[in-house]
Amino acid sequence: MSRLNVTETFHQITFPGHLHTQDSLRYAMDFQFQDTDTLIVTYPKSGTTWMQQVLTLLFSRGDPTLSHSIPNWARAPWLEQYYCPDVLKASLGPRIITTHLPYSLLAPALQGSKAKVIYVARNPKDVAVSYYHFHKMANFLPQAGCFGEFLDKFLDGTLHYGSWFDHVKGWTSQGRDKLNFFYITYEEMWQDMRGSIERISTFMQCPLLAEELNNVQRHCSFSCMKENAMVNYTQIPDEIMDHSKGSFMRKGKIGDWKTIFTEEQNCMFDQVFEAEMQSSKLNFIWEPP
Ligand code: A3P
Repeated sequence: MSRLNVTETFHQITFPGHLHTQDSLRYAMDFQFQDTDTLIVTYPKSGTTWMQQVLTLLFSRGDPTLSHSIPNWARAPWLEQYYCPDVLKASLGPRIITTHLPYSLLAPALQGSKAKVIYVARNPKDVAVSYYHFHKMANFLPQAGCFGEFLDKFLDGTLHYGSWFDHVKGWTSQGRDKLNFFYITYEEMWQDMRGSIERISTFMQCPLLAEELNNVQRHCSFSCMKENAMVNYTQIPDEIMDHSKGSFMRKGKIGDWKTIFTEEQNCMFDQVFEAEMQSSKLNFIWEPP
């Protein structure tokens, strides 16, 4: 039976049943992290695939062979998706694992772990727009409806994978102090890719020669990734992702929200953001002055 239209609810959060089962979600919560693991954590559409590509290329010192021959989900599987145990069983060397789960669900498994945790955040207005377009092409996600309706659900935290606010607050307020934690934004990567790769390589204790850094940077560029079938999802059949309705590597820009938000939607968003993020210690600046 196709699970394309199935929704899994787990700890009050909904997930696409196409990729998640109750068992796979429990597996994630009970996961035994190794100290050599690197965990990429994101809310969907925040630069997950981009960071998967950076880390793959960092580990291979800029050699693109792996990043051009193995799909991203097989190099850096999502912990909560059903195929993860099989991918990890076959993996050699230090593991790159990805998750969209909130901190509350992974905190027990990560307690006391020295695994490296890399959190990528993105301007939530751009996340909402990117997620909206992704809903239109991804047949395993619910119907997007009009943008206004979609935005209401984003702000209510009722889309698949839950609330953006809870996700960011959980990982950056509670998780940050307890974990071997690195925080970066999509916008920082966008504005200074080279400097961002250098900071990531320092955190990863994986220094690169200038030539290696050049290669990582080249293969992580939007133009390169858009053409790379191992990260652009073009190999996924139309039945699952309808490529006539959009592309995964859509625009890769900052501030695209301005092309779709109305003045009213922007005001409403700012009010909700202010109220939700009051307690957050992070100073969110998404755009250059
Ligand atoms: P847009 O829809 O705004 O274009 P995720 O991997 O978390 O699902 O995020 C997907 C978003 O990241 C998409 O945003 C995609 O275009 C963007 N993206 C992926 N690789 C990128 C890169 N190298 N540079 C800039 N943006 C990138």
